[in-house]
Amino acid sequence: MNPIPFSRPHIGEEEIAAVVETLRSGWLTTGPKTHEFQQAFAQAIGAVQAIAVNSCTAALHLALDALELPRDAEVITSTLTFTATAATIIHAGARPVLVDVTPDTLNIDPREVARKITHRTRAIVPVHFAGHPAAMDELLEIARQHGLRVIEDAAHALPASHRGRVVGTIGDVTAFSFYATKNLTTGEGGMLTTADSELADRVWSRRLHGMSWDAWRRYSGGGWRYDVSYPGFKYNMTDIAAAIGLVQLQRLPALHQRRREIATLYSALLSDVPELRLPTTRPDVEHAWHLYVVRLRPQRLRLTRDSLIEILKEKGIGTSVHFIPVHLHSYFRKALGVTEEDFPVASMAAETMLSLPLFTLMSDDDVAYVANTLRRILRHRRR
Ligand SMILES: Cc1ncc(COP(=O)(O)O)c(C=O)c1O
Repeated sequence: MNPIPFSRPHIGEEEIAAVVETLRSGWLTTGPKTHEFQQAFAQAIGAVQAIAVNSCTAALHLALDALELPRDAEVITSTLTFTATAATIIHAGARPVLVDVTPDTLNIDPREVARKITHRTRAIVPVHFAGHPAAMDELLEIARQHGLRVIEDAAHALPASHRGRVVGTIGDVTAFSFYATKNLTTGEGGMLTTADSELADRVWSRRLHGMSWDAWRRYSGGGWRYDVSYPGFKYNMTDIAAAIGLVQLQRLPALHQRRREIATLYSALLSDVPELRLPTTRPDVEHAWHLYVVRLRPQRLRLTRDSLIEILKEKGIGTSVHFIPVHLHSYFRKALGVTEEDFPVASMAAETMLSLPLFTLMSDDDVAYVANTLRRILRHRRR
């Protein structure tokens, strides 16, 4: 059996040809391919506007920056996320207020969100963990009651839907990631979607230095003169990345279907392993299946998660942990004055979670090898 990495991008001849065509076209940076990708993406998920950027981090930062938050603003987010979700709140001049997750989906707990609202709260940033949409109805209701904006971190959630509404069309703004491991990849990249035209206008300009014209429009008839109305950022997508994205977008339904099949196979093969807790899917969602996260039941095992990772590695299986929660990192612990005990569910998950390999190039045999190897190790170390 060849080693099975945690993830591998699914790049085919079509993506390669699209990049070569773009390289030969004479236009490398934001231009016709990016514009086409934005339109195709908006159409694919039913969003009013889609703005291509060079990462999900950039999309989150732009969205929060465009809210023009007051200096003492608080923004509520899940602690079980990648650092970028919390760091961009700080970059936008606000204070992240971390909230614990629910034990089933590991998504932000709406009751905890309601408890943490103060007169300074301005926005909520739910993270659709692993591709399972957060409890959007409850969160939108809380936001409506308190006049808050909702910026969704959908780095994992393409394509996904919640009660028939597609992620990317639910909150005020949604941020997607096209990082190398993501469900759709452009190497590095991201997309911001919104139906708020005022906010979108700010994002369009701020994603490229706060200029009134982007380079493509300047050099293709827009004229050389531009104005800078804001000290903006350098967050635009290249046409090289967009060319990959256009091909990947066409293949997204098939890629998603394969992810769903792999997740279903894992669940079937592991459902009777008493030492494991498998991912749950609430009945009213379409799961993007970016990650397949199992949790160990430590009371049943003579084995830690960390040593399990090492044993799996020896057997040629790559795994990962999503995430070391924000509240456990030294910067946030100090800056926010938070402790492990403040977030019991996420702290427990941090010790027991394991993300199994999940990528579309995996064969059914690969999935079976991972599941059976895991089952054998756990049986051997049963308490
Ligand atoms: C939940 C979450 N948010 C944001 C990001 C940042 O995405 P990007 O690498 O595209 O900036 C990631 C990246 O892995 C993520 O997992």
